[in-house]
Amino acid sequence: MLSVHDFHAGYPSVPVVSGAELRVERGEIVSLFGHNGAGKSTLMKGVFGVLGDCRGEVRFNDAAVAGASTRSLMRRGMVLVPQERGVFPSLTVAENLRMGFWASGESARAEYDRRLARTLGYLPILDERKDDRAGELSGGQQQMVSIGRALLAGPKLLLLDEPSTGLAPNLVDDIMALVTRLREEEGLSVLLVEQNVGQALAVSDRVYLMKGGRIIHEATPDQLTWSRSLWDLF
Ligand SMILES: Nc1ncnc2c1ncn2[C@@H]1O[C@H](COP(=O)(O)OP(=O)(O)OP(=O)(O)O)[C@@H](O)[C@H]1O
Ligand SMILES: [Mg+2]
Repeated sequence: MLSVHDFHAGYPSVPVVSGAELRVERGEIVSLFGHNGAGKSTLMKGVFGVLGDCRGEVRFNDAAVAGASTRSLMRRGMVLVPQERGVFPSLTVAENLRMGFWASGESARAEYDRRLARTLGYLPILDERKDDRAGELSGGQQQMVSIGRALLAGPKLLLLDEPSTGLAPNLVDDIMALVTRLREEEGLSVLLVEQNVGQALAVSDRVYLMKGGRIIHEATPDQLTWSRSLWDLF
C-alpha cells in the first residue's frame, strides 16, 4: 500500500529524516517508535506532502507519489492526523467533519451521510457535541474531532501521529481499540506513531525504530517485546 525508499525530509536548511525505508502492506497496522525529536512527525509530514524539502521514492497504491500535493494524496486515500491536530476552533464539530469530506474531493450527499454515520458510530462523543464549536471541546475531544475529520475523508491509509497524547489511560485503550476496528471493519491500513509503546505493540503487525532521523530497525512486536538488545539500540 505504501512504500518509502531512500527518503529524505526536513525543513529549510534543517535536514531531519535521512534515507528512510519503510512500507505498510494493505490492512497492516505498523508502528513507528522513537524518542522525542527522532523525526517521526517529519517523516509522516514528508510522506504526506506537507514539507517542501523532500527527496526519495514514495509509492502509494502502486503509483509514484513523491512530491505529490497533500490534496492529491488525500484524493488517493492517504490521510494524516497530525500531532498538532489542526482543528478549526470557531467551526462546529459537524463543520470540522465536513472539511474532511471536502478535502477528499467528494461532493455526493449520500456518500457524506454514509461516512458521517459510520464515523459518529466509531466516535459517539462527536455525535453528542456536533453542534458545539470545536474550540469549546476538551483537548481529548478535539483529538476525536481530528480523527473524525480524517475518517470523513474516506482514508485507505491513515497516518496517525500520537493519537493518544494527553488522553486519560483508559482512553488510550479506546483509541487502540478504534485503530483495530478500523482495520477490521473498514479495511484500513495504519501507520501509527505512539508513545504508549506497550499499547501500540499490542495492536501492531510490525514496528520500526527510529533514531536521529534514521530508521534503525524493523521488528515484529514479539521480537521487540523479548529482545533486550533491541531496546538497547535506543
Ligand atoms: N518546523 C520546523 N522547523 C525546523 N526544525 C523542525 C521543525 N519541526 C521539527 N523540527 C526539528 O526536527 C527534528 C525532528 O522533529 P520531529 O517533530 O519530526 O520529531 P518526533 O520524532 O516527531 O518527536 P516527538 O516525539 O517529540 O513528536 C527535531 O530536531 C526538531 O527540532
Ligand atoms: Mg512528533
